[in-house]
Amino acid sequence: MEPSDKYLLKHKGCYFVQEAITPEYIDSLENFEIRDSDIFLITFPKSGTIWTQNILSLILHEGHRNGTEDMDLLDRVPWLEYNVRNIDYVNRPSPRLFATHLPYYLAPKGLKMKRGKVIYVIRNPKDVLVSYYHFSKVSVKLEEVEDFEIIMERFLAGKVVGNLWLDHVEGWSSQRDNLNILFLMYEEMKKNLRSSVLKICNFLGRKLTEEELDDVVDKASFDKMSADSRTNYSTTPPDVLDFSKGCFLRKGTIGDWKNMMTVAQSERFDSVFKERMEKLPFKFCWDISDEL
Ligand code: A3P
Repeated sequence: MEPSDKYLLKHKGCYFVQEAITPEYIDSLENFEIRDSDIFLITFPKSGTIWTQNILSLILHEGHRNGTEDMDLLDRVPWLEYNVRNIDYVNRPSPRLFATHLPYYLAPKGLKMKRGKVIYVIRNPKDVLVSYYHFSKVSVKLEEVEDFEIIMERFLAGKVVGNLWLDHVEGWSSQRDNLNILFLMYEEMKKNLRSSVLKICNFLGRKLTEEELDDVVDKASFDKMSADSRTNYSTTPPDVLDFSKGCFLRKGTIGDWKNMMTVAQSERFDSVFKERMEKLPFKFCWDISDEL
């Protein structure tokens, strides 16, 4: 079953959320002017974007950390390709923070010329798939498909937002020498958040005190984020997210795919992904008890 173009827009070989974007805007992003001070968080959907958006915001905005500012995460770290809040990106003060799911080939030229900094978060693709399946129910802007097998086949064929996971990860990782880029694994964040936050601070050249660091780690925990309306999307209107169908911060763990995928589905997944995944320069973690 092909994805419905009521929900997905295919432009330049890439799938986007139909309602939130236009082909003209996608085209304009190639020439989106990048500042050296820009920080881009780049992910395949469902890889820990909101989590890292929150961490970046906590590191860079003291007011967020100490609770003196009440601002939604989407205003602090907006989506480059889905400017749903109509923010004036051009006149936004530095350092600008952006999140994006763009594949490398559609990224702004400036980024490819080593302007700005990129943080790329990767998650094991079986958990990404399962998270995407559940999120498709919550998101009114995505097609709700009850049959997991159908979503899995679309995922394996790259017919989901972000396209083929393998292409996305390969696209960005193969360009690592031509970018200012830090790769982080969702699983390492889950297992040792403090060291991941420190990695981000070092990469951005930000020095936090021990106390500030503790605060970032605390406010970026799954429980704290789930309970905070600035970080759990709960203020999103019901015509965008339907919370009667589930939460944005759903389980937040490693290995939930085992609760969803049958052995046959897992083997089918491996038969399509394994060979190319083995060539990637990352060590994947498939279960919460696995060593990194
Ligand atoms: P699950 O659906 O597996 O729970 P994105 O923001 O890229 O859409 O990713 C969403 C996924 O990240 C969800 O995964 C969500 O629960 C998880 N996530 C968000 N915040 C998290 C946190 N603080 N700790 C662990 N996982 C988190």
